[in-house]
Amino acid sequence: MRFGRQDAMALLYEWTKGESLRKHGLAVSVCTESYGRREAEKLGLTGAEVEAFAEPYACAGLLHDMDYERHPSLEEHPFVGVEHLRGLGWPESILHAILAHADYSGTPRASHLDKALFACDELAGFLTACALVKPSKSIHDVEVASVKKKMKDKAFARAVKREDITAGAELLGVPLEEHLANCLRAMQERAEELGLENGA
Ligand SMILES: [Fe+2]
Repeated sequence: MRFGRQDAMALLYEWTKGESLRKHGLAVSVCTESYGRREAEKLGLTGAEVEAFAEPYACAGLLHDMDYERHPSLEEHPFVGVEHLRGLGWPESILHAILAHADYSGTPRASHLDKALFACDELAGFLTACALVKPSKSIHDVEVASVKKKMKDKAFARAVKREDITAGAELLGVPLEEHLANCLRAMQERAEELGLENGA
C-alpha cells in the first residue's frame, strides 16, 4: 500500500456503504486538501511537491469518518478506524488528525493538518446542505453571503455545529468569510466528483 488517495478511497468504500457518508468523506477531503495546497504554497513548494504535501490532507478527509457507519458510538468512533489504519501502517500524522477531529478523543489539534481537518469537517457538510436546498442542487449556485445567512438560521441543517466552523477558522488563523469562500471554491472546482454539479 502506498498510503495515498486511492488507498484511502478504497478503504472508505470498503468500510462505508452509505452514499451520503461516502460523499461526506469526499467533500471533507476536497476542502482539507485545498488547505494542504495552500500551506504547501506558503512554504514555497511547487509542482509535484505541492501534490505530495497535500496528499495526507486528502487522505485524512477521506478516512476521518471511515469507521462511523460500523462503529458510530463515542467509545468506538474514530478509535476503531484509527487502530485499523495503524495496523496497515498509515502515517501517524494522518491518524493524529483523525483522532483530533473528535472533541472527546482528548487528542489536541496541534499540526496544520489537525486544524484543517477539524475546520473542514462541519463546513463541508454545511456547504453540501446549502447546495441541496437549491432547485439545481448545484454547489455552483451557493454564495458566501447566503452561507453566512444560513449559519445564523438555527432551523437550517441543525445537526451542523456552527461553533465548530467558527472555531475551525480561528484555529487555522483564517477569517470566517475567507474560510467559507476557500471551502466553497474547493468544492465548486470538484463539483462533479461530489455529485453537486448542475442537475446531478
Ligand atoms: Fe466528518
